[in-house]
Amino acid sequence: MPDSHSDAMIQSLRAAARQARESAFCPYSDFAVGAAVMCADGEIHRGCNVENASYGLTMCAERCAIFSAVAAGRTEFAALALVTSAAEISRLCGACRQVIAQFSSPGAPITVISESISGEYVVETIEQLLPSAFTL
Ligand code: THU
Repeated sequence: MPDSHSDAMIQSLRAAARQARESAFCPYSDFAVGAAVMCADGEIHRGCNVENASYGLTMCAERCAIFSAVAAGRTEFAALALVTSAAEISRLCGACRQVIAQFSSPGAPITVISESISGEYVVETIEQLLPSAFTL
């Protein structure tokens, strides 16, 4: 992680993900997920999972956060935090890894903080989570 990513920045991103989780719309799985992505300048955008009666239309929290940031005109991201309902740390799905990889650069891979409901978390890079991502 670059030096500019202080512990305080990690903590504020974790807190934003936890706040976003409160908005999760998950009546089918009852598995609430919150995510927050930090732009290069420290701005934070949030996302939560949004389920649908047509299950396959469900959107993950991580992609919701990224798409929200992109819709706000942001495409340079330093880190993304997610918090799930699981007691153990669970990592983000493959689709979300590919979407994050789209905005990551080899020299400065996006940091991913994965957190359990109990507050246990792990810090990794998107390159660790998705080596050899698809590119055109
Ligand atoms: N989910 C996420 O929001 N992020 C992931 O990385 C994996 C799964 C959501 C989708 C669904 O609403 C619920 O968790 C159970 O799969």
